[in-house]
Formats: sequence, C-alpha cells, structure tokens
Amino acid sequence: MTGGMVARGLLSAEKVEAHAENIIEVRAVRNQFGSQVVHEALDLDVRRGEILSVVGGSGTGKSVLLRTIVGLNRPARGAVSVFGEDLLSLPAAQRSRVERRFGVLFQKGALFSSLTVIENVALPLIEHAGLGAGDAARLARLKIALAGLPANAGDKYPSDLSGGMVKRAALARALALDPDILFLDEPTAGLDPIGAAAFDQLILTLRDALGLTVFIVTHDLDTIYTITDRVAVIGQKRVLINDTLDAVAAADDEWIRDYFHGPRGRAAAAATLAVHAAASSKPIPNQNTEPNPEQT
Ligand SMILES: Nc1ncnc2c1ncn2[C@@H]1O[C@H](COP(=O)(O)OP(=O)(O)O)[C@@H](O)[C@H]1O
Ligand SMILES: [Mg+2]
Repeated sequence: MTGGMVARGLLSAEKVEAHAENIIEVRAVRNQFGSQVVHEALDLDVRRGEILSVVGGSGTGKSVLLRTIVGLNRPARGAVSVFGEDLLSLPAAQRSRVERRFGVLFQKGALFSSLTVIENVALPLIEHAGLGAGDAARLARLKIALAGLPANAGDKYPSDLSGGMVKRAALARALALDPDILFLDEPTAGLDPIGAAAFDQLILTLRDALGLTVFIVTHDLDTIYTITDRVAVIGQKRVLINDTLDAVAAADDEWIRDYFHGPRGRAAAAATLAVHAAASSKPIPNQNTEPNPEQT
C-alpha cells in the first residue's frame, strides 16, 4: 500500500468521525421568498443524540429552517448535510431514503381530521413501509402507547381530543417509521404548563430510550431550561450562537439578554435551579415521569 493511500484512508476516517459528531450540518444557507431574504449565510450544527432548541423572534425563520432541513423547502444557496450526505445534491430516490429517517411534528398538528388516530399513525406505515392494514394498525397502537396516549384514544378523531392529546397523536405519527431524528415545531405551544411539562419529559424519555436526536423549535423557556442540551438562536437572518444554555445566556446580544434575563427567563432559570437542588439533595424514590394525558 502506498503512503498516499494510507493518507487518504486516514482522511476519510476523520471525515467519518466528524460526521458521527454532527448528524446535521447546515452551511451558508440563504432562504428567500420573492425579495424577502429570510436567511443569509446561515450555519447550524446538530449533534448526534442531543436535544437542540432553536429559538428566535417570531418570523425569524425557525419553521423555514426546519422545513429546509427536512427537504420541504429548497434553499436559494448553501448546503444541508444529514448523516454525512449532501441532501441537496442527492438524487430524489436517495434523498427520500434519508428523509424517511426523519420524524416531523409540524407547528399546526397536521393530522387528517377524517381519519382516526390509529389511521393517522398507520398511514405512513402503509404508504412508506409497505405494511398491510392489519400490521400497520397493530404497530400504530404501539406508537400511540409510546406517545403516552391511552389505548382508547386510537379510535377517536382528532377533533375529539384535547390539544395535548393531539400533540401526542402527531408525535405517535412522527415516530411511526422509527426515525433517527425528531423535528418538533413549537410542540408545547397552546398547552397548559402541566401538559407542557409532561410533554417535555416525554421527549426526554424518548430521546434516552430510543437514542433519538431532537431538533425543537420552541418559545418555551421551561422546555429550554429543563430538557435542552444546546440552544441555537436565530436573529439577523442567521444563527447568532449555537451552544450550551450557559454560553448562550451569557452572550452579548440585546435580544438574547432580553429573552433569557427577562422576567420569564429568570423564572424558568430559578425553577430549574430549584429542581436541580432538590434532585441533588435527596434521591427521588419511584420518580414517576409517566405523562398523564388526561391532564394535557
Ligand atoms: N412559503 C412561504 N412563502 C413566502 N414567505 C414565507 C413562506 N414561508 C415562510 N415565509 C416567510 O418567512 C418568514 C419566516 O417564517 P417562519 O419560518 O414561519 O417564522 P418563525 O420563526 O416564526 O417560524 C416570515 O416572514 C414568513 O412570512
Ligand atoms: Mg414557526
């Protein structure tokens, strides 16, 4: 073997390592609608196994960024690589194979109102995994349980469910095809605080149990403080900072200061500190993190 081949071998091993760390890399992305430039030279890294919160003012392009990564919005410029594959240059068939490893919970629920919860969850199993109706329904029941819904929710229509239960049903559908990466757009918006906290705990449990990587667009400071590993702040058409909560909260930026150190930010931080203090002072016996969907 020549020296050149060894060097190439090492280089490609390093490349694999880098990709093992970043499951998603967004580079120099521009998104534009007509003359409105939403993103310019936007970079973002998502690490394998982390829960990343994406925050930013309303209209800064959080949902557009999510849609760009999952392939629903083609950027005017830049690159999006997922699992080390450059999504924008992949042929359609290969791209859809990558996209099948995504589970997405959209901002507006997006369940079919004419289908029951089981039928909604079974649909991707029939359409994309090619299961028969019976197998798909059986598997759908498991996903519905995984999302913390009672078994009898499966036969209901979305309009018969509370807001929290609709979110869980949409989550069950997002989990249908055993995704590697879960994308959630404002999952706790519109939930009461108890429902929102239960949903946060469910996401944390699922990440740990299923080894998911989780990308959450959120306004919810409690979510950010309780389950997030890193935070990405969008502003001025790009990602201003993509780091741990401590580093982000210490950043020298007016919007970030107002957001994290305003009254709501301080309350969320204080609540988290209190929880951590309680958790470290005594072990919590039989800690029940089981969500109670009836409350949500
Ligand atoms: N398909 C679209 N066509 C035109 N404009 C869009 C489209 N999607 C989003 N936008 C615009 O892009 C900006 C960012 O939108 P969005 O990502 O939904 O913001 P948010 O950060 O609140 O999620 C908004 O001004 C929105 O009107
Ligand atoms: Mg949005």
